[in-house]
Amino acid sequence: MTFKRTHTCGELTAENIGQEVVLNGWVGPRRDLGGLIFIDLRDRYGVTQIVFTEEDQKVHAEAEKLRAEYIIGIKGKVIARGDENVNPKLVTGEIEIEVTELLVYSEADTPPFEIKDGIATNEETRLKYRYLDLRRPEMQDKLMMRSKAYHAIRSYYHAHNFAEVETPVLMKSTPEGARDYLVPSRVNPGKFFALPQSPQTYKQLLMVSGFDRYFQITKCFRDEDLRADRQPEFTQIDVEMSFVTEEDIYAHHEGLMKMIFKETIGVDIETPFPRMTYEDAMNTYGSDKPDTRFGLEFVDFSDIVKDAEFKVFSGTVANGGAVVGITIPGQGEMGRGAIDRWTERVKKETGAGGLIYIKMQEDGPLCSVAKFLTDEIVSKMVEASGAKTGDLVFLLAGPKPSVLEQLGQLRLMVGKEFDLINEEAYNLLWVTDFPLLEWDDETRRYHAMHHPFTSPKEEDMDKLDSDPAAVKARAYDLVMNGSEIGGGSIRIHSQSVQRKMFELLGIGEEEAEEKFGFLLDAFKYGAPPHGGIALGLDRIVMLLSGAGSLRDVIAFPKNQRAQSMMDNSPAEVDVEQLNELHIAIKQRNLK
Ligand code: AMO
Repeated sequence: MTFKRTHTCGELTAENIGQEVVLNGWVGPRRDLGGLIFIDLRDRYGVTQIVFTEEDQKVHAEAEKLRAEYIIGIKGKVIARGDENVNPKLVTGEIEIEVTELLVYSEADTPPFEIKDGIATNEETRLKYRYLDLRRPEMQDKLMMRSKAYHAIRSYYHAHNFAEVETPVLMKSTPEGARDYLVPSRVNPGKFFALPQSPQTYKQLLMVSGFDRYFQITKCFRDEDLRADRQPEFTQIDVEMSFVTEEDIYAHHEGLMKMIFKETIGVDIETPFPRMTYEDAMNTYGSDKPDTRFGLEFVDFSDIVKDAEFKVFSGTVANGGAVVGITIPGQGEMGRGAIDRWTERVKKETGAGGLIYIKMQEDGPLCSVAKFLTDEIVSKMVEASGAKTGDLVFLLAGPKPSVLEQLGQLRLMVGKEFDLINEEAYNLLWVTDFPLLEWDDETRRYHAMHHPFTSPKEEDMDKLDSDPAAVKARAYDLVMNGSEIGGGSIRIHSQSVQRKMFELLGIGEEEAEEKFGFLLDAFKYGAPPHGGIALGLDRIVMLLSGAGSLRDVIAFPKNQRAQSMMDNSPAEVDVEQLNELHIAIKQRNLK
């Protein structure tokens, strides 16, 4: 038997006093006071206090047996709490239910951790018992926010005439730069599907088919090194449009973000978003996903120090490197010990060779390498840095672009350490004008910085042969608070440009045919000019909900070793199953 509930545990107020109600829920904390038993009854909508009096001995005796996490139904009457017991923090804080009937649906073992917010239980345990972790209100709130985000996304695209189309999960590899998860085919011995790293090729094919506006909320799979903002299985809001330029993609996705913000956290964000070229982002913040919630913009001292006797400076500049720094307000009195700790940290965490400083003391600047520099150079550096008395300048010297990246990391560390980041802000921006290609020293060839279907900028086409490294792409990223939440590009729709691109990437005709023949064939029948973007849904919800990791906004995530703690996957399989798949494991029990 199930009691048909009249209300949830999160809605009864003083207005309901006197009503007979039915609630279903989970038993939370209980207090026994004399003859009275108080229980917090919980469901995903909230908590309602229920009380068992001694008036009905039978119900009272049953209530005595209730333990944490039992699932029960109750009938009873809404009554006012005594003034001293009102809890203004709860919607239901003015009332309680005097129980007349009790039904126990399910008893429960004592859970391995308490079902409440802010527990200190380690994450492995929480992941092992994820279904219990998800009973906790803070986890439920995050998944509910995610649910609202799906709704906002679907409403936005449907309102703008986008077709929602599902693309295959068993497919051929798409080049997004990570390793594939492979799925063996039983009926095609020795052959494998790849799980999609993204639906990139399919969405372009949909443009060939004429679905000029497509979107999908879809799972992607990437076998790559995991971090707090990366999961092997994650969700993209995937979009492609025909007959568009970058401006159309920007405008639509500013609209989309506005709607997601409004529907999930009720915040109105300003549009259009600022834009920054890749080059400016690297030169100013040392990152292609700059966190613009705080300053500490880079100052380039290379010109000032290029003729200094100090070889670390002049030698670096002569070799095409840079001397760059940041000015930290109010830290000019930093002691020796603290500076040494920063130096060690910078070396260890960023790989920089050393840290140089200028302390802006009351009696003038104190530079850690002053004895190798003239007063004139030091004062020019101070002027360029904009530092005032009481400030501190940190400098790094080294080859570009690594020194920019190192200073970028130092900037983030300093921002966090000295609380310079405005945690209330949501700073969204477009990063544009990415290089088309990236040189890889290891393989000694170019890689596509975005992916091989990204179009070069029109004005750079003639440099494809003469100076490929200087060619810019029609690619863009959407960045929020220092996280890349989306990326896309206007695509190549000409067969000859696509062939040229493969050539530059060292993908021979045969390899191109084998890997992407289906796409190239499709283009032979005419491809409209098209472009698109994919947004990382998990990352967006993580940032909106203030979660510390993607795992907190995914119902059943993998841990840092790409395992599911709950069902112990990935797991070994029977030899028969392997035989059917024509697979032999070379070594068992690999650690
Ligand atoms: P890209 O590889 O930049 O582009 O991916 C788009 C967005 O997906 C999110 N993302 C991830 N989120 C969680 N875990 C991961 N492992 C992970 N990897 C990526 C990021 C990223 O910005 N096909 C292209 C898009 C296009 O060109 O239209 C693509 O997949 O937020």
